[in-house]
Amino acid sequence: MTERYPIADATELSEDGSRVITEIRGQEIAVFRHDGDYYAVANYCIHQGGPLCEGALSGQMTTSEDGWDWDYDGEEKYVVCPWHGWKFDITSGRSPKDERYAVPTYDVEVEDGTVYAVR
Ligand code: FES
Repeated sequence: MTERYPIADATELSEDGSRVITEIRGQEIAVFRHDGDYYAVANYCIHQGGPLCEGALSGQMTTSEDGWDWDYDGEEKYVVCPWHGWKFDITSGRSPKDERYAVPTYDVEVEDGTVYAVR
């Protein structure tokens, strides 16, 4: 059964890069605003349990398979865990270095000015 949890008033997430961290049913989650949309991510780093969503948002450096070509994805949609620097894409929950690693994400709905996490 799907449940919906109120997270914040949408005015608290009015700018890209803003976030709200709260607790639902004993589990901390964060809702980020990025590129006009909202993304909910568990505030739990799969490395050693750090408070992932308290970290900075950044872009991501990428390299070609042979390592000779470098590129920088400047879209600041990667949250960097403040404990040891593991990085996750807030739009998918996946690690940009190895997509087998991911943190839980949740759907987000906005209704009448309230942002909800859905799971
Ligand atoms: S606990 Fe997050 S990088 Fe180690």
